[in-house]
Amino acid sequence: MNRVHIKTYGCQMNERDSEAVGAMLRKRGYSLVDNEQDADIVLLNTCSVRDQAEQKAIGKAGHLNKRKRRNQKFIVGIMGCMAQNRGQDLLDSLPDLDLIVGTQKFHQIPDHLDNIIHTLQAQGPRPSTVIDIEEEKDSQNTIRNHLSDQKKASAFVSIMQGCNMHCTFCIVPTTRGAERARPMEAILEEVQELAAEGVKEVTLLGQTVNSYGLREFPFKDGKSPFVQLLEAIHEISGIERIRFTSPHPKGFKQDLIEAYTYLPKLCPYIHLPLQSGSDRILKLMRRPYTAKSYTQIVEKLRQAVPDMYLSTDIIVGFPGETDEDFEETRVLFDALRFDMAYIFKYSIRSGTPAATMPDQVPQEVKERRNQALLDILEKHSLARNQSLLGTVQEILVEAPAKRGENLYMGRNPGNRKVIFTATERLVGELVRVRITEATVSSLKGELVLGGV
Ligand code: 5AD
Repeated sequence: MNRVHIKTYGCQMNERDSEAVGAMLRKRGYSLVDNEQDADIVLLNTCSVRDQAEQKAIGKAGHLNKRKRRNQKFIVGIMGCMAQNRGQDLLDSLPDLDLIVGTQKFHQIPDHLDNIIHTLQAQGPRPSTVIDIEEEKDSQNTIRNHLSDQKKASAFVSIMQGCNMHCTFCIVPTTRGAERARPMEAILEEVQELAAEGVKEVTLLGQTVNSYGLREFPFKDGKSPFVQLLEAIHEISGIERIRFTSPHPKGFKQDLIEAYTYLPKLCPYIHLPLQSGSDRILKLMRRPYTAKSYTQIVEKLRQAVPDMYLSTDIIVGFPGETDEDFEETRVLFDALRFDMAYIFKYSIRSGTPAATMPDQVPQEVKERRNQALLDILEKHSLARNQSLLGTVQEILVEAPAKRGENLYMGRNPGNRKVIFTATERLVGELVRVRITEATVSSLKGELVLGGV
């Protein structure tokens, strides 16, 4: 009755929340299973950022609910952003759901499941759906526990929750609430524990991660709380690499740029969402920067770290985006030579200001603009990969590759995945790999022995 499978949709924050829920459930005596067929309980941790993500999870939940015909005690829950966004309304299309838990109530899931199971075992009528989507003060402090059953190279650490930015296209302020930071000491303690377990790389997570603690903690020596946190994590022995996602261009100030010059553990990879290269569209999106000021950040970063890898998010087909607006995006996107990018077709999110803006862009125009950017991305991604041919890269070995005997996957400091022959013993270790093959989407290499 207590085997749980958690399926996660969406961003790294969701992955981290799922892991924390898994750890809480395990502590309560539940077991976690990888295969949904083996589970008594399936929880879907959902994403609302685009309609497609919501539809996928709703379809999945509908499918799962059918299993209740064969197994009366099977439990299905929806948690996370879509639970928060749609709440009770989910029952219109999914009346058989057992559990709907919002983004500030993850820590209540063990209690809710205990209660549901208790009622089901008592053989009474099936309990009505538990809906728990209130706000909760200090909920940011509840995403704390990690699963530590296998040796892990890398871990996510959630340093804050929520977003205060109010971009007109985005549902996240609704699903995640206002920005709340965790205390620095609690984060440091968590990272110390991870390091003691052998974790070498941490990725700090927040919706606008560089605004960490701006309201809660003071600047010191001209340094923002986020840079202070980076410096403190840098001191922790055992941690070799520090990453974070996602920063906002608004708070990408000189202190953070300079941090790259004196914190060698800070990986030279930044995911900095641009969204559009047209100042007119940026304004309509309520993004408080211009194409020029964004470009200046990139230039400064590349001055500080010549080998900086850059990644971004772009939305094509925002309401009112003309061919001229898109052309500005296309030209800037090409000029900035992104190594990586996530390109999204604008998706109407009901309740957001952009949903009711005039001049919604037809789907085929979005498709065309999307493809144009993908072609440019491919060119720059291939150029980057080819530039690595023959070089020796420091790789953190993460896990066996999806396919291939004795093949393992790891990443270089720039977050490029590399596949190479290795052994289980090297998982979680930093090794040196010579790059021998480069295509647009993959790198292959061979271990350089002796230098490890
Ligand atoms: N439509 C399409 N893409 C969106 N994003 C956020 N909201 C929407 C939307 N309504 C994209 C943004 C953001 C990323 C996580 O998702 O590019 O940076």
